Amino acid sequence: MKPPSTTNPTYWEYLGLDQLLSLQDGLPDGEEPSADELHFIIVHQVFELWFKLVLKELRIARDAVSASSVPEESIPTVVRHLQRVCKIIEHTMHQWAVMETLTPQDFLAFRDKLVPASGFQSYQLRELEIVLGLDPANREASGFGDPIRVIQDLAGNSPGGLLAKQRIKDALAEQNLATALEDWLYRTPIQGSGPEDATDDETLESFIAEYVCAQRDHLANQARVYGAQGTVSEADAKVRLDITLQETEDFLRATDIAPAKRKRRSRARCGVLFIESYRELPLLAWPRTLLDVVVDLEELLVLFRTRHVRMVERVIGRRMGTGGSSGVDYLESTLKYRIFTDLWMVRTILLPASALPALNSAEYYGFKA
Ligand code: HEM
Repeated sequence: MKPPSTTNPTYWEYLGLDQLLSLQDGLPDGEEPSADELHFIIVHQVFELWFKLVLKELRIARDAVSASSVPEESIPTVVRHLQRVCKIIEHTMHQWAVMETLTPQDFLAFRDKLVPASGFQSYQLRELEIVLGLDPANREASGFGDPIRVIQDLAGNSPGGLLAKQRIKDALAEQNLATALEDWLYRTPIQGSGPEDATDDETLESFIAEYVCAQRDHLANQARVYGAQGTVSEADAKVRLDITLQETEDFLRATDIAPAKRKRRSRARCGVLFIESYRELPLLAWPRTLLDVVVDLEELLVLFRTRHVRMVERVIGRRMGTGGSSGVDYLESTLKYRIFTDLWMVRTILLPASALPALNSAEYYGFKA
């Protein structure tokens, strides 16, 4: 194959079109793929190309967020890269509709020759999960083995297998976006105080105590409103709202986290709550936009998985997957995966702006009034 010219390249040289267009021949069994199989191969390949770009964008965003101090002006860049990731995922969602033009019988005509190949072995999707920071406990809960181990077992010594293993290994050695984001959130100035300030522990303690107190008042009022409406009795509403009150305190004090890491996580969570609660403050404009785009991203990933499983059910029903899983049942269990759990949890405990404790050091956040 002629190497592309480095100067004055043609369109086909610049894009490596001759190579790209020679990669859809399917298995080397001498049989030209049917139109249905060609479609199946191309849809998968296009997804993998998008995964390649998503990984690059995520790593750039992760590197910028993991700096020991993130300058204010670099947050828009992080947001821009994550927004592109969101747009790509949104765009790929339409590809499931293209896939659905394959009828169950069209697929059955060539399905058996794929076994044991399956999207379960998409090492780029696993890299994506790893770079984002998916806790492996999510996969364990899905009940179909560890995909990382499956990839390692299947890889053998083939060039493709060695590459798959190496890429997973490299991704596992990297810092992930969730941890980088947590470190950045840990440094959030809360009520004008940063973690390096001498009185920060006390500031944090009063922030939590005042927030829990405001939450108690707000929930007591809500119980009365529910009771007056008559949908549930005030006593029943109170029982449920008391749970939210306890959840608020447990979340902010990070009682679910091992003691060694508790203080750090507690401050990071208070950081999320502070940014979300006082999100209109000028200094918090970019931080809240960053949190918003991360929530967009996670929501889109859940929708991406949801769209995949509905397409799968339409094409193969409830039969076993070519990768050996229970198929739709397994895929449905992956819809519970969540990475940025604190960003979701904070939504349960937010207060209306009118019920928030007073803001200290408003001028620090660019609020002059
Ligand atoms: C007719 C089309 C498709 C069918 C019937 C199908 C079916 C399945 C099934 C049954 C699984 C579960 C694992 C197994 O036992 O095989 C799976 C996993 C997966 N598929 Fe598909 N799939 C299709 C198209 C695609 C496409 C176009 C992509 C794009 C890359 C894709 C990506 C994935 C991924 C990443 C997983 C792993 C999900 C996880 O474990 O979290 N699939 N697929």
